[in-house]
Amino acid sequence: MEGTNLQKPPNCKWSIFGCSGSDANDTIVRLVRHYWACQGHPDRNIIVSRKNAYHGSTIAGTSLGGMSSMHSQGGLPIPNIMHINQPYYYREGEGMTPWEFGLECARELEALILETGPDRIAAFIGEPIQGAGGVIIPPESYWPEINRICRKYDVLLCADEVICGFGRTGNWFGSQTLGIDADVLTLAKGLSSGYQPISAVVFSEKIGEMLDKKGGEFTHGYTYSGHPVACAVALKNLQIMRDERIIEHAREHTMDYLQSKIVLLGKHPLIGEARGCGFLGALELVKDTETREKFDDNATAGKTCRDIALNNGIVIRAIGDSMVMCPPLVITREQIDEMYGLILETLNQTQHALNQ
Ligand SMILES: Cc1ncc(COP(=O)(O)O)c(C=O)c1O
Repeated sequence: MEGTNLQKPPNCKWSIFGCSGSDANDTIVRLVRHYWACQGHPDRNIIVSRKNAYHGSTIAGTSLGGMSSMHSQGGLPIPNIMHINQPYYYREGEGMTPWEFGLECARELEALILETGPDRIAAFIGEPIQGAGGVIIPPESYWPEINRICRKYDVLLCADEVICGFGRTGNWFGSQTLGIDADVLTLAKGLSSGYQPISAVVFSEKIGEMLDKKGGEFTHGYTYSGHPVACAVALKNLQIMRDERIIEHAREHTMDYLQSKIVLLGKHPLIGEARGCGFLGALELVKDTETREKFDDNATAGKTCRDIALNNGIVIRAIGDSMVMCPPLVITREQIDEMYGLILETLNQTQHALNQ
Protein backbone atom coordinates (compact mmCIF):
# COMPACT_ATOMS: atom_id res chain seq x y z
CA MET A 1 0.00 0.00 0.00
CA GLU A 2 1.37 3.38 -0.91
CA GLY A 3 2.41 5.67 1.91
CA THR A 4 2.30 2.89 4.47
CA ASN A 5 2.69 4.49 7.84
CA LEU A 6 4.48 1.72 9.65
CA GLN A 7 4.16 2.01 13.39
CA LYS A 8 5.37 -0.03 16.27
CA PRO A 9 2.90 -2.67 17.48
CA PRO A 10 0.08 -1.29 19.62
CA ASN A 11 0.96 -0.95 23.28
CA CYS A 12 -1.72 -3.30 24.56
CA LYS A 13 -0.78 -5.76 27.27
CA TRP A 14 -4.01 -6.74 28.98
CA SER A 15 -6.34 -9.34 27.50
CA ILE A 16 -9.74 -10.90 27.94
CA PHE A 17 -10.22 -14.11 25.98
CA GLY A 18 -13.31 -15.30 24.18
CA CYS A 19 -14.34 -17.69 21.45
CA SER A 20 -15.19 -15.49 18.47
CA GLY A 21 -14.65 -12.05 17.03
CA SER A 22 -18.32 -11.31 17.71
CA ASP A 23 -18.16 -12.08 21.42
CA ALA A 24 -14.91 -10.12 21.70
CA ASN A 25 -16.69 -7.06 20.34
CA ASP A 26 -19.51 -7.62 22.82
CA THR A 27 -16.84 -7.59 25.51
CA ILE A 28 -15.54 -4.27 24.17
CA VAL A 29 -18.95 -2.64 24.57
CA ARG A 30 -19.03 -3.60 28.25
CA LEU A 31 -15.33 -2.89 28.79
CA VAL A 32 -15.24 0.66 27.46
CA ARG A 33 -18.49 1.61 29.19
CA HIS A 34 -17.22 0.14 32.46
CA TYR A 35 -13.94 2.02 32.02
CA TRP A 36 -15.76 5.34 31.92
CA ALA A 37 -18.16 4.38 34.71
CA CYS A 38 -15.13 3.61 36.91
CA GLN A 39 -14.06 7.21 36.44
CA GLY A 40 -17.44 8.51 37.49
CA HIS A 41 -18.79 9.00 33.95
CA PRO A 42 -21.51 6.36 33.50
CA ASP A 43 -23.16 8.55 30.83
CA ARG A 44 -20.07 8.40 28.69
CA ASN A 45 -21.47 5.32 27.02
CA ILE A 46 -21.87 6.05 23.30
CA ILE A 47 -19.74 4.05 20.90
CA VAL A 48 -19.23 5.40 17.40
CA SER A 49 -18.74 3.06 14.46
CA ARG A 50 -19.15 3.31 10.68
CA LYS A 51 -21.85 2.50 8.17
CA ASN A 52 -21.11 -0.74 6.33
CA ALA A 53 -18.70 -1.88 9.06
CA TYR A 54 -18.77 -5.52 10.14
CA HIS A 55 -18.11 -6.37 13.77
CA GLY A 56 -19.89 -9.71 14.14
CA SER A 57 -23.33 -11.25 14.44
CA THR A 58 -24.15 -11.09 18.14
CA ILE A 59 -26.48 -8.35 19.33
CA ALA A 60 -23.69 -5.95 20.25
CA GLY A 61 -21.53 -7.02 17.28
CA THR A 62 -24.38 -6.42 14.84
CA SER A 63 -25.17 -3.10 16.51
CA LEU A 64 -21.58 -1.95 16.24
CA GLY A 65 -21.60 -3.07 12.64
CA GLY A 66 -23.15 -0.71 10.16
CA MET A 67 -25.08 -3.05 7.91
CA SER A 68 -28.67 -1.97 7.59
CA SER A 69 -29.75 -5.40 6.31
CA MET A 70 -28.52 -6.88 9.59
CA HIS A 71 -30.02 -4.12 11.75
CA SER A 72 -33.43 -4.72 10.25
CA GLN A 73 -33.43 -8.28 11.59
CA GLY A 74 -33.86 -8.23 15.35
CA GLY A 75 -34.57 -4.58 16.04
CA LEU A 76 -30.99 -3.32 16.16
CA PRO A 77 -28.83 -1.40 16.87
CA ILE A 78 -29.00 -1.35 20.65
CA PRO A 79 -29.08 2.16 22.18
CA ASN A 80 -26.04 4.41 22.26
CA ILE A 81 -24.29 3.12 19.19
CA MET A 82 -23.89 5.72 16.44
CA HIS A 83 -22.56 5.41 12.90
CA ILE A 84 -20.67 7.82 10.70
CA ASN A 85 -19.94 7.35 6.98
CA GLN A 86 -17.34 4.90 5.76
CA PRO A 87 -14.23 6.09 3.88
CA TYR A 88 -15.25 4.52 0.54
CA TYR A 89 -13.52 6.80 -1.93
CA TYR A 90 -14.46 5.06 -5.17
CA ARG A 91 -18.20 5.34 -4.57
CA GLU A 92 -18.53 8.26 -2.19
CA GLY A 93 -15.58 10.56 -2.77
CA GLU A 94 -16.65 12.29 -5.97
CA GLY A 95 -15.23 15.76 -6.48
CA MET A 96 -12.52 15.33 -3.86
CA THR A 97 -8.98 14.02 -3.81
CA PRO A 98 -8.51 10.87 -1.73
CA TRP A 99 -6.68 12.95 0.86
CA GLU A 100 -9.52 15.47 1.17
CA PHE A 101 -12.10 12.70 1.31
CA GLY A 102 -10.18 10.84 4.05
CA LEU A 103 -10.08 14.00 6.15
CA GLU A 104 -13.73 14.72 5.51
CA CYS A 105 -14.81 11.23 6.60
CA ALA A 106 -12.64 11.34 9.72
CA ARG A 107 -13.96 14.77 10.63
CA GLU A 108 -17.48 13.39 10.70
CA LEU A 109 -16.34 11.81 13.95
CA GLU A 110 -15.28 15.20 15.30
CA ALA A 111 -18.57 16.78 14.23
CA LEU A 112 -20.53 14.00 15.93
CA ILE A 113 -18.48 14.32 19.12
CA LEU A 114 -19.06 18.08 19.25
CA GLU A 115 -22.75 17.77 18.47
CA THR A 116 -23.37 15.00 21.01
CA GLY A 117 -20.98 16.29 23.64
CA PRO A 118 -17.50 14.84 24.23
CA ASP A 119 -18.63 13.72 27.70
CA ARG A 120 -21.03 11.25 26.05
CA ILE A 121 -18.61 9.50 23.66
CA ALA A 122 -16.86 6.47 25.15
CA ALA A 123 -15.10 5.02 22.14
CA PHE A 124 -14.73 4.79 18.39
CA ILE A 125 -14.40 1.38 16.73
CA GLY A 126 -13.26 0.56 13.21
CA GLU A 127 -11.66 -2.14 11.11
CA PRO A 128 -8.31 -0.85 9.79
CA ILE A 129 -9.61 -1.96 6.37
CA GLN A 130 -13.29 -2.88 6.16
CA GLY A 131 -13.24 -6.51 5.07
CA ALA A 132 -16.80 -7.80 4.89
CA GLY A 133 -17.92 -4.37 3.68
CA GLY A 134 -16.00 -4.95 0.42
CA VAL A 135 -12.33 -4.33 1.25
CA ILE A 136 -12.73 -0.59 1.76
CA ILE A 137 -9.24 0.86 2.08
CA PRO A 138 -9.29 4.31 3.63
CA PRO A 139 -7.26 7.15 2.12
CA GLU A 140 -3.92 7.76 3.85
CA SER A 141 -5.21 10.85 5.60
CA TYR A 142 -8.02 8.97 7.36
CA TRP A 143 -6.54 7.08 10.30
CA PRO A 144 -4.03 9.76 11.38
CA GLU A 145 -6.95 12.19 11.59
CA ILE A 146 -9.03 9.68 13.56
CA ASN A 147 -6.04 9.28 15.93
CA ARG A 148 -5.88 13.03 16.41
CA ILE A 149 -9.60 13.36 17.08
CA CYS A 150 -9.70 10.48 19.55
CA ARG A 151 -6.73 11.89 21.49
CA LYS A 152 -8.14 15.43 21.47
CA TYR A 153 -11.51 14.39 22.94
CA ASP A 154 -10.18 11.51 25.04
CA VAL A 155 -12.21 8.95 23.10
CA LEU A 156 -10.96 5.36 23.30
CA LEU A 157 -9.86 4.04 19.92
CA CYS A 158 -10.72 0.40 19.22
CA ALA A 159 -9.26 -1.35 16.18
CA ASP A 160 -11.13 -4.47 15.14
CA GLU A 161 -8.25 -6.58 13.85
CA VAL A 162 -10.28 -9.74 13.28
CA ILE A 163 -9.47 -9.70 9.56
CA CYS A 164 -6.48 -7.35 9.42
CA GLY A 165 -4.50 -8.94 12.26
CA PHE A 166 -1.79 -11.58 12.03
CA GLY A 167 -0.19 -10.66 8.75
CA ARG A 168 -3.15 -9.93 6.51
CA THR A 169 -1.86 -6.45 5.63
CA GLY A 170 1.82 -7.42 5.68
CA ASN A 171 2.46 -6.65 9.36
CA TRP A 172 1.36 -8.37 12.53
CA PHE A 173 -1.46 -5.86 12.90
CA GLY A 174 -3.43 -3.76 10.46
CA SER A 175 -3.00 -0.93 12.97
CA GLN A 176 0.71 -0.90 12.14
CA THR A 177 0.15 -0.78 8.38
CA LEU A 178 -2.55 1.85 8.55
CA GLY A 179 -1.00 3.87 11.40
CA ILE A 180 -3.67 3.45 14.08
CA ASP A 181 -2.86 4.40 17.64
CA ALA A 182 -5.30 1.96 19.24
CA ASP A 183 -6.23 1.59 22.91
CA VAL A 184 -8.14 -1.65 22.33
CA LEU A 185 -7.78 -4.43 19.74
CA THR A 186 -10.19 -7.18 18.75
CA LEU A 187 -8.33 -10.33 17.76
CA ALA A 188 -9.74 -13.61 16.45
CA LYS A 189 -9.39 -15.62 13.19
CA GLY A 190 -5.59 -15.43 12.65
CA LEU A 191 -4.85 -15.76 16.38
CA SER A 192 -5.15 -19.52 15.86
CA SER A 193 -5.13 -19.39 12.04
CA GLY A 194 -8.70 -20.60 12.48
CA TYR A 195 -7.70 -24.05 13.77
CA GLN A 196 -9.51 -23.50 17.07
CA PRO A 197 -12.16 -20.94 18.04
CA ILE A 198 -10.44 -18.27 20.13
CA SER A 199 -10.58 -14.49 20.36
CA ALA A 200 -9.12 -11.79 22.55
CA VAL A 201 -9.79 -8.22 23.49
CA VAL A 202 -6.36 -6.73 24.11
CA PHE A 203 -6.14 -3.31 25.72
CA SER A 204 -3.76 -0.65 26.93
CA GLU A 205 -2.15 -0.19 30.31
CA LYS A 206 -4.26 2.95 30.81
CA ILE A 207 -7.46 0.91 30.70
CA GLY A 208 -6.03 -2.10 32.53
CA GLU A 209 -4.74 -0.05 35.43
CA MET A 210 -7.96 1.90 35.73
CA LEU A 211 -9.96 -1.30 35.94
CA ASP A 212 -7.48 -2.74 38.39
CA LYS A 213 -7.56 0.26 40.71
CA LYS A 214 -11.15 1.38 40.49
CA GLY A 215 -13.11 -1.28 38.65
CA GLY A 216 -13.47 -3.91 41.31
CA GLU A 217 -14.19 -7.19 39.63
CA PHE A 218 -15.12 -6.92 35.94
CA THR A 219 -18.07 -9.29 36.16
CA HIS A 220 -17.56 -10.74 32.74
CA GLY A 221 -16.56 -14.13 31.37
CA TYR A 222 -17.58 -17.02 29.18
CA THR A 223 -17.30 -20.65 30.22
CA TYR A 224 -14.85 -21.25 27.40
CA SER A 225 -12.82 -18.03 27.77
CA GLY A 226 -9.16 -18.97 27.58
CA HIS A 227 -9.99 -22.63 26.97
CA PRO A 228 -6.71 -24.56 27.34
CA VAL A 229 -7.00 -26.40 24.03
CA ALA A 230 -7.72 -23.20 22.10
CA CYS A 231 -4.90 -21.39 23.90
CA ALA A 232 -2.45 -24.24 23.22
CA VAL A 233 -3.34 -24.16 19.52
CA ALA A 234 -3.09 -20.35 19.37
CA LEU A 235 0.31 -20.41 21.06
CA LYS A 236 1.59 -23.09 18.71
CA ASN A 237 0.21 -21.17 15.75
CA LEU A 238 1.95 -17.97 16.85
CA GLN A 239 5.17 -19.86 17.50
CA ILE A 240 5.11 -21.33 13.98
CA MET A 241 4.29 -17.95 12.45
CA ARG A 242 7.15 -16.36 14.34
CA ASP A 243 9.73 -19.15 13.90
CA GLU A 244 9.00 -19.70 10.22
CA ARG A 245 8.80 -15.95 9.66
CA ILE A 246 5.59 -16.44 7.75
CA ILE A 247 4.57 -12.78 7.73
CA GLU A 248 8.06 -11.53 6.89
CA HIS A 249 8.42 -14.13 4.14
CA ALA A 250 5.04 -13.24 2.67
CA ARG A 251 5.83 -9.53 2.85
CA GLU A 252 9.20 -9.97 1.17
CA HIS A 253 8.34 -12.58 -1.48
CA THR A 254 4.68 -12.65 -2.47
CA MET A 255 2.73 -9.64 -1.20
CA ASP A 256 3.80 -7.14 -3.87
CA TYR A 257 3.53 -9.82 -6.53
CA LEU A 258 -0.07 -10.52 -5.53
CA GLN A 259 -0.87 -6.81 -5.54
CA SER A 260 0.72 -6.38 -8.98
CA LYS A 261 -1.64 -9.07 -10.30
CA ILE A 262 -4.62 -7.30 -8.74
CA VAL A 263 -3.54 -4.10 -10.48
CA LEU A 264 -3.32 -6.00 -13.78
CA LEU A 265 -6.80 -7.45 -13.29
CA GLY A 266 -7.98 -3.89 -12.73
CA LYS A 267 -7.28 -3.21 -16.42
CA HIS A 268 -10.05 -5.59 -17.45
CA PRO A 269 -12.97 -3.68 -19.05
CA LEU A 270 -15.37 -4.95 -16.36
CA ILE A 271 -13.35 -3.54 -13.48
CA GLY A 272 -14.05 -0.04 -12.22
CA GLU A 273 -11.62 -0.19 -9.34
CA ALA A 274 -9.02 -2.74 -8.27
CA ARG A 275 -7.96 -2.15 -4.68
CA GLY A 276 -5.77 -4.09 -2.37
CA CYS A 277 -3.42 -4.11 0.57
CA GLY A 278 -1.24 -6.97 1.75
CA PHE A 279 -3.18 -10.17 1.22
CA LEU A 280 -6.53 -8.52 0.69
CA GLY A 281 -7.96 -7.48 -2.63
CA ALA A 282 -11.17 -6.42 -4.33
CA LEU A 283 -12.24 -5.97 -7.92
CA GLU A 284 -15.31 -3.81 -8.32
CA LEU A 285 -17.41 -4.73 -11.35
CA VAL A 286 -19.04 -1.92 -13.31
CA LYS A 287 -20.97 -1.56 -16.53
CA ASP A 288 -19.07 1.58 -17.51
CA THR A 289 -15.61 2.30 -16.16
CA GLU A 290 -15.84 5.99 -17.11
CA THR A 291 -19.11 6.79 -15.35
CA ARG A 292 -18.78 4.00 -12.72
CA GLU A 293 -22.33 2.95 -13.56
CA LYS A 294 -23.34 -0.38 -12.04
CA PHE A 295 -25.08 -3.15 -13.96
CA ASP A 296 -28.02 -2.90 -11.54
CA ASP A 297 -28.79 -2.48 -7.85
CA ASN A 298 -29.25 -6.19 -7.20
CA ALA A 299 -25.59 -7.15 -7.47
CA THR A 300 -26.35 -9.32 -10.49
CA ALA A 301 -22.83 -8.79 -11.80
CA GLY A 302 -21.26 -9.87 -8.52
CA LYS A 303 -23.40 -12.98 -8.20
CA THR A 304 -22.81 -13.95 -11.83
CA CYS A 305 -19.07 -13.56 -11.42
CA ARG A 306 -19.02 -15.49 -8.14
CA ASP A 307 -20.88 -18.45 -9.66
CA ILE A 308 -18.64 -18.54 -12.71
CA ALA A 309 -15.58 -18.36 -10.47
CA LEU A 310 -16.77 -21.29 -8.38
CA ASN A 311 -17.40 -23.24 -11.53
CA ASN A 312 -13.84 -22.47 -12.60
CA GLY A 313 -12.52 -23.76 -9.28
CA ILE A 314 -11.76 -20.47 -7.53
CA VAL A 315 -13.53 -19.00 -4.52
CA ILE A 316 -14.08 -15.23 -4.76
CA ARG A 317 -16.67 -13.67 -2.51
CA ALA A 318 -19.13 -11.23 -4.03
CA ILE A 319 -19.92 -8.32 -1.73
CA GLY A 320 -22.39 -6.43 -3.85
CA ASP A 321 -20.45 -6.08 -7.09
CA SER A 322 -17.06 -6.14 -5.40
CA MET A 323 -15.25 -9.43 -5.84
CA VAL A 324 -13.11 -9.83 -2.76
CA MET A 325 -10.20 -12.15 -2.17
CA CYS A 326 -8.20 -13.06 0.84
CA PRO A 327 -5.63 -15.73 -0.11
CA PRO A 328 -3.56 -17.54 2.52
CA LEU A 329 -0.26 -15.97 3.56
CA VAL A 330 1.56 -19.10 2.42
CA ILE A 331 0.39 -18.74 -1.18
CA THR A 332 3.28 -19.15 -3.65
CA ARG A 333 4.02 -17.09 -6.76
CA GLU A 334 3.00 -20.07 -8.91
CA GLN A 335 -0.33 -20.24 -7.10
CA ILE A 336 -0.78 -16.48 -7.54
CA ASP A 337 -0.23 -16.99 -11.29
CA GLU A 338 -2.82 -19.74 -11.30
CA MET A 339 -5.23 -17.56 -9.34
CA TYR A 340 -4.65 -14.67 -11.75
CA GLY A 341 -5.34 -16.87 -14.77
CA LEU A 342 -8.54 -18.25 -13.28
CA ILE A 343 -9.82 -14.81 -12.32
CA LEU A 344 -9.03 -13.41 -15.76
CA GLU A 345 -10.89 -16.26 -17.40
CA THR A 346 -13.76 -15.73 -14.95
CA LEU A 347 -13.94 -12.02 -15.79
CA ASN A 348 -14.02 -12.77 -19.52
CA GLN A 349 -16.83 -15.27 -19.05
CA THR A 350 -18.70 -12.87 -16.75
CA GLN A 351 -18.45 -10.12 -19.35
CA HIS A 352 -19.84 -12.45 -21.95
CA ALA A 353 -22.69 -13.59 -19.65
CA LEU A 354 -23.64 -10.03 -18.66
CA ASN A 355 -23.65 -8.77 -22.23
CA GLN A 356 -25.91 -11.50 -23.55
C1 LIG B 1 -13.80 -7.31 11.38
C2 LIG B 1 -14.59 -8.44 11.96
N1 LIG B 1 -14.99 -8.37 13.24
C3 LIG B 1 -15.67 -9.35 13.82
C4 LIG B 1 -15.99 -10.49 13.12
C5 LIG B 1 -16.78 -11.57 13.78
O1 LIG B 1 -15.95 -12.65 14.07
P1 LIG B 1 -16.61 -14.08 14.31
O2 LIG B 1 -17.16 -14.53 13.01
O3 LIG B 1 -15.43 -14.90 14.79
O4 LIG B 1 -17.64 -13.93 15.35
C6 LIG B 1 -15.58 -10.62 11.79
C7 LIG B 1 -15.89 -11.83 11.01
O5 LIG B 1 -15.63 -11.95 9.85
C8 LIG B 1 -14.87 -9.56 11.19
O6 LIG B 1 -14.51 -9.60 9.91
